[in-house]
Amino acid sequence: MRNARWKAASRAAVALAGAGALVAGMALFTTAPAAAGTTLGASAAEKNRYFGTAVAAGRLSDSAYTTILNREFNSVTPENEMKIDATEPQQGRFSYGAAEQIVNHARSRGMSVRGHTLAWHSQQPSWMESMSGTALRSAMLNHVTQVATHFRGQVVAWDVVNEAFADGSSGGRRDSNLQRTGNDWIEAAFRAARAADPGAKLCYNDYNTDNWTHAKTQGVYNMVRDFKARGVPIDCVGFQSHFNNESPYVSNYRTTLSSFAALGVDVQITELDIQGASAATYRSVVEDCLAVPRCNGITVWGIRDSDSWRASQTPLLFNSNGSKKPAYDAVLAALNNGTTPTDPPTDPPTDPPTDPPTTPPPGQGGCTATVSVNQWTGGFVATVRVTAGSSAISGWTVGIALPSGATVTNAWNANRSGSSGATSWTNVAYNGRVGAGQSTEYGFQANGTAGTITPTCTAS
Ligand code: G3I
Repeated sequence: MRNARWKAASRAAVALAGAGALVAGMALFTTAPAAAGTTLGASAAEKNRYFGTAVAAGRLSDSAYTTILNREFNSVTPENEMKIDATEPQQGRFSYGAAEQIVNHARSRGMSVRGHTLAWHSQQPSWMESMSGTALRSAMLNHVTQVATHFRGQVVAWDVVNEAFADGSSGGRRDSNLQRTGNDWIEAAFRAARAADPGAKLCYNDYNTDNWTHAKTQGVYNMVRDFKARGVPIDCVGFQSHFNNESPYVSNYRTTLSSFAALGVDVQITELDIQGASAATYRSVVEDCLAVPRCNGITVWGIRDSDSWRASQTPLLFNSNGSKKPAYDAVLAALNNGTTPTDPPTDPPTDPPTDPPTTPPPGQGGCTATVSVNQWTGGFVATVRVTAGSSAISGWTVGIALPSGATVTNAWNANRSGSSGATSWTNVAYNGRVGAGQSTEYGFQANGTAGTITPTCTAS
């Protein structure tokens, strides 16, 4: 369901994206090489991704602003209008007008919407700031439930929780009134959001989590890994990526994105801006995202420099008179040069699996594996489905003999041995246990031609 909404939004955006739109739409399903896009959104769509911006409702009456918005972007994040102080200014009295203005503007033009944000220590209304304990926990959960329910079906991905980790070397949680309600407040928020809108992707979003070596990055990584292991419903991690002289872009950013993706979540760059807007740095960020199959979109935090929360740093893609900056050209070129489009990998189940098996159950104690392939000229993505037999299994190994010329370039949700010829795949920590008759999936991307793949499966 979540993938269906994602694809529907992508398709709608592509349909309105102008030049190259037909080819872009086909790229969701076929192997056709994509034509170069002429706008950020159209080009990203050809790579099966979105390119979005933060939008302020108050600027929608500025035609210079909306001209760029409507031409260039296929995803929108309300900059302040979905925050707690905006949507529940008095306890129990919800106010959605400004957020709906943005949602309607976006959706009527085929743009998808990222929701930002349901639970955060900042921009709380004064009634919430002064609350604590069980009253605050209940109020927070009610807020998550009400707002996610109100926008059900209209928001592709929610930043369920924003900025809950501390800066510095601790790698732990940030102190806040929400944190003081108990360490489980984050997972409680995610469970409430899933119940309210089962079709939305649920993200954890934070800043200064770009550098793989930083304690904060590792702290968030460990939380996401734990959530996946315990079935807490999390689908994606947002990297705000506000780069500046104190918090610069680093070359291990790609490692950060791919490491999180390997946990079985999508990754998204959610609030990108770069002090001085170096074209080379913007290009690197886009290339890093395109190199990670589960990096499914980039959002810049504003359109023109004058729209930025850090206007004096001139960190965006358009200058204050609306002209494209060199960084714009670099981003568009990087999008057009990016990796071959692939169908986004389907989510591994984060909740206990309930689907009936789609393959005949094997003998007692064993497992079977099936492979579906999305092939294009020169490469493919394989999705491997492992199904337990009439007994639960606690681990699995899949053997796949790749044809000559096929080489694995990356993989998710499994450990790999070998990249060509005879390859062997074993479960990672969170997907080894598969109930009787139940399934789990992993995937990999490879160069070359898949041909007919006949996997073997051994249970442990
Ligand atoms: O709308 C009022 C206006 O009526 C009033 O006169 C003026 C006086 O200060 O304030 C205006 O509200 C400001 C609002 O932006 C709209 O411009 C707030 O003071 C100001 O605090 C608020 O700043 C926002 C900031 O979040 C608050 O934390 C920025 O616009 C917004 O870009 C920024 O976004 C955050 C993300 O949500 C999370 N990640 C970091 C990012 C940057 O701080």
